[in-house]
Amino acid sequence: MLKKAMMLSMAAMVMTGAVHSAQAAEADDAVTYRKEVMKIIGGNMAGLSMALKGKIDDPKALQTHAEMLARTSSMALGAFKENTAGKGRERTTAKADIWSKWPEFEKDMKAFDQQAQKLASAAASGGAKAAGAEMAALGKSCKTCHDDFREKH
Ligand code: HEC
Repeated sequence: MLKKAMMLSMAAMVMTGAVHSAQAAEADDAVTYRKEVMKIIGGNMAGLSMALKGKIDDPKALQTHAEMLARTSSMALGAFKENTAGKGRERTTAKADIWSKWPEFEKDMKAFDQQAQKLASAAASGGAKAAGAEMAALGKSCKTCHDDFREKH
C-alpha cells in the first residue's frame, strides 16, 4: 500500500516536472522568436539608414528595406503575445510590464507600425527625400517603447 502511494506520488512528480519543462521550453521559444523579429527590424532599420546616407551601391536598397521593415513591424505585436515573465532560461531584456500594461505596449507597437507603413509609402512615392523626413519619428517610436518596456542592456 505504502509502496503504491509512493510510486503514485513519484509518477505525479515526474509528470509535473515534464509539464514545467515543456512550459519552460515554450517560453524559451517565444523569447527566441521575438528577439529574432526584433533583430530583423533592427537590421532593416540599419540598412535603411545606410541607404538614406547613400552608403549602399544598390538603387533598390532603400525601398526594399523600407518594405521589409513595414512587413515585420506589422507582425511584431503577435511575437510578444505570450507572457514569459519569470519563465524559461533564454536571456531576455523584456520587462514584465509588457503584460501587466498590455494596452500601453500595444499602443507603442501600433504607433511604430503606423510610422513604418508611412515611411514605406513615402519611400515608394517620394524616394529618399520623403523617406528621410519620416526617419526621426520612426527612430523615436523604437525608443519610446524600449524606454518603457525594455531593461537597460
Ligand atoms: C512596442 C515595443 C517595441 C518597439 C516599437 C520596438 N521594440 Fe525593439 N524590443 C522591444 C522589446 C521588449 C525588446 C526585448 C525583447 C527580449 O529581449 O525578449 C526589444 C529588443 C530589440 C532588439 C534586441 C534583439 C535581441 O537580439 O535581443 C533590437 C535590435 C531592437 N529591439 C530594435 C528595434 C528597432 C530598431 C525598433 C524600431 C525600428 C524597435 N526595436 C521597436 C520592444 C520594442
